[in-house]
Amino acid sequence: MASMTSSSVPLILLVPLVLGSMMVASAGNLNQDFDITWGDGRANIVNNGELLTLSLDKTSGSGFQSKNEYLFGKIDMQLKLVPGNSAGTVTAYYLSSKGSTWDEIDFEFLGNLSGDPYILHTNVFSQGKGNREQQFYLWFDPTADFHTYSILWNPQRIIFSVDGTPIREFKNLESNGVPFPKNQPMRIYSSLWNADDWATRGGLVKTDWTQAPFTASYRNFNANACVWTSGASSCGSKSPSSTSNNNAWLSQELDSASQQRLQWAQKNYMIYNYCTDTKRFPQGLPTECTTS
Ligand SMILES: *[C@@H]1O[C@H](CO)[C@@H](O)[C@H](O)[C@H]1NC(C)=O
Repeated sequence: MASMTSSSVPLILLVPLVLGSMMVASAGNLNQDFDITWGDGRANIVNNGELLTLSLDKTSGSGFQSKNEYLFGKIDMQLKLVPGNSAGTVTAYYLSSKGSTWDEIDFEFLGNLSGDPYILHTNVFSQGKGNREQQFYLWFDPTADFHTYSILWNPQRIIFSVDGTPIREFKNLESNGVPFPKNQPMRIYSSLWNADDWATRGGLVKTDWTQAPFTASYRNFNANACVWTSGASSCGSKSPSSTSNNNAWLSQELDSASQQRLQWAQKNYMIYNYCTDTKRFPQGLPTECTTS
């Protein structure tokens, strides 16, 4: 007993230091955070790790994934989407766990003809069940410049943001019987592929292969996240409740200004919401749609 006590004292003192350094993933070199996973040379990390590009041609798309698995995080990435005639192409950027009852948090960008709007498609899966699509137009041309797409995932909520404007919130309503992603660590995945059977105007507009290769770009990855390694979280095992600056995101919620931004985005740019699709759910809308 005595020896246990004396050896655990310095450990306790170390904890804040460890948290402070482990929780902040690097924001600099994409080589440190990501592996190219497929595409046979069509995906590349260039400029000393500052830029990642995915490309798609008639033979193949390409993709990458994070080296780390995360259990909660505030994850930002800047994307510049396929310009010009991107109809038929889909750029997916998402978090996902593994197995048949997986969790997933999705951004998908559905391309379009030159000048026609991309659709930003979002979804949340918990324990293998999705069917929670919300779709948006964007208030800018996502191919002209890089824009920041963020996922805040903490034990209480998931918030999707675009350039700091929240567009969607999925709350933890476990107490109402809605499963919430909170036990399965997730990796970041991204890919660019051909989906011209459904992506653009429901599959009416096909990919124009004379425009290939199609290219999407990524930069300025930043993760304030709990990294999951060998069954343990870098944030520790206690339920996360610290108020230190570094992990304020772990209990972050939408303040009233952010709520107003969210309402602005949903009112003006949301084009599909499963929560209002009563035809699709004749037995009644999903619980999270009817619980405030
Ligand atoms: C493409 O443009 C058409 C016409 O403006 C629009 O109806 C559609 O929602 C746009 N986006 C996609 C991905 O189909």
